[in-house]
Amino acid sequence: MPDDLDSDHRARLAAVYDPLDPDRSDLEVYADIVAEFRARRVLDVGCGTGTFALMLAGRGIRVVAVDPDEASVDLARHKPGADAVEWIVGDATTLPALSVELATMTANVAQVFLDDAEWEATLRGIREALVPGGVLVFESRRPERRAWEEWTPERTRVSAEVEGYGHVEAWNEVLEVAGPLVTFRSTNAFDDGTTLVVEETLRWRTREELEASLAAAGFEVLEVRDAPDRPGREYVFIARAVEGAED
Ligand SMILES: C[S@@+](CC[C@H](N)C(=O)[O-])C[C@H]1O[C@@H](n2cnc3c(N)ncnc32)[C@H](O)[C@@H]1O
Repeated sequence: MPDDLDSDHRARLAAVYDPLDPDRSDLEVYADIVAEFRARRVLDVGCGTGTFALMLAGRGIRVVAVDPDEASVDLARHKPGADAVEWIVGDATTLPALSVELATMTANVAQVFLDDAEWEATLRGIREALVPGGVLVFESRRPERRAWEEWTPERTRVSAEVEGYGHVEAWNEVLEVAGPLVTFRSTNAFDDGTTLVVEETLRWRTREELEASLAAAGFEVLEVRDAPDRPGREYVFIARAVEGAED
């Protein structure tokens, strides 16, 4: 989220996130993978409003959830069951010592890292948080599907009732496509007349780039799956922290 927003605006943007995207069936895939690897301690990087962290905690898994957006973490901390999760405002490069068995980045968090240094530092931070042989699971949109071409105001328009803020209508439009970087504008129009406009850039890495960056950070790719709820649109990477890999 941009730095130039005041705290009320940040709180509003955090508050609209869940109501505007209520179908989180995408998270079932991740919960199934956590179960498949029998992980009991999980780190969720870019946890946002905490939906996935709380889903796991509800299944008896110990979860550490980290996100740099304080408003989102504040909102997460006040959800039912939130006491069972360790919430951290920060990112994967500033974590305390952890020994988790599995780490996740759901909902295309991997695409927020624009330059290679930032992405590699994140992967290295995650590897340090994992026990040797621990597993990282994340998704990234397939560049060849050019999902941004569907991000028009007509096709992205959604609305919801938001507790404390009333009705909100939101839509996206792409401002610029510069190689792998796509910049788009999200508009959130509230019934009280407040309109919040946020610009964001995401990076579309190829499968080969993702594989190379994982290898450089000390991970071995076990598998690249499809996201069953978005067939053909996502790479779901499952990678193992290589034991004894040098930094
Ligand atoms: C699309 S949201 C996904 C949130 C959550 N994972 C979910 O499934 O709802 C992307 C998240 O990435 C977070 N983010 C931005 N920069 C980050 C960074 N450097 N490290 C970790 N998360 C970051 C944002 O604050 C935001 O919460």
